[in-house]
Amino acid sequence: MMDKLKIPNGTLAVPAEYKEQVIPECSGNPFIEALPPILNAEEAAERLAFYPPYHPQERKLESHYRIHMVQRLFQIFQPLPVHLDLESRISRLLRQGYLARNPLKPQFLQHLKKSDEIIKGINGVLETNELFRTTASGFSIVGVSGMGKSTAVNQILRMYPQVIIHSRYKETKFSVYQLVWLKLDCPFDGSIKGLCIEFFNKVDNLLGTDYYKKIRKWTLQRRQHGECYLQDRSEPRPWPACNR
Ligand SMILES: Nc1ncnc2c1ncn2[C@@H]1O[C@H](COP(=O)(O)OP(=O)(O)OP(=O)(O)O)[C@@H](O)[C@H]1O
Ligand SMILES: [Mg+2]
Repeated sequence: MMDKLKIPNGTLAVPAEYKEQVIPECSGNPFIEALPPILNAEEAAERLAFYPPYHPQERKLESHYRIHMVQRLFQIFQPLPVHLDLESRISRLLRQGYLARNPLKPQFLQHLKKSDEIIKGINGVLETNELFRTTASGFSIVGVSGMGKSTAVNQILRMYPQVIIHSRYKETKFSVYQLVWLKLDCPFDGSIKGLCIEFFNKVDNLLGTDYYKKIRKWTLQRRQHGECYLQDRSEPRPWPACNR
């Protein structure tokens, strides 16, 4: 992988390197071709494992030093079969989501244009966008506290660059930041509104955009017209009345 570059907001991003794809439907999609290669189980186990360095001579050190070294145990990551399954799921999930979002396909660009018009209130409503059939999917991880859910997800996401910079794809000028993954914490009140706010804040922090400010301004304008788009669905209220 190439050296990281600092984008204007200070985030470290990786310049895109397009890889040849074995899976035919992944070919020709710069977002998929720029991802790290698909790993087999051995490669995944090797990449996920982390064993902090240790030297037998350290046993001879005094206890007040050794106690600090014991802290290294918290960095260990031991890959288990369940982690290999999770790594493959995340890898499939990312690629699957990009299949219908090929930025070089006219259908996707049409969808973006249409969504933009809908958001600006020019044309149609958000629910009736028939142009786009998503290929994105999802899954949940359920398990007792402390079994390693967060650690496993973090360790797997670390294998993917968070931001990839595209500037040219083959002969085409293609200047885009690809945000590969975003990890959002569940808002304290479990609300959709809190999740949206967290989403825009995180994107803005990473890319230096000002979506949150724009969305807030736009929402306030809508409210003045008696409509609310970024409403909190956790508290059912008559739509479109929303005066918070
Ligand atoms: N595969 C692993 N190898 C080594 N240590 C691990 C592994 N998985 C988890 N741990 C350790 O177990 C502890 C608990 O893990 P973690 O916080 O990921 O659990 P969790 O399932 O997310 O818990 P919660 O549901 O409370 O959020 C952490 O200290 C982590 O370092
Ligand atoms: Mg956790």
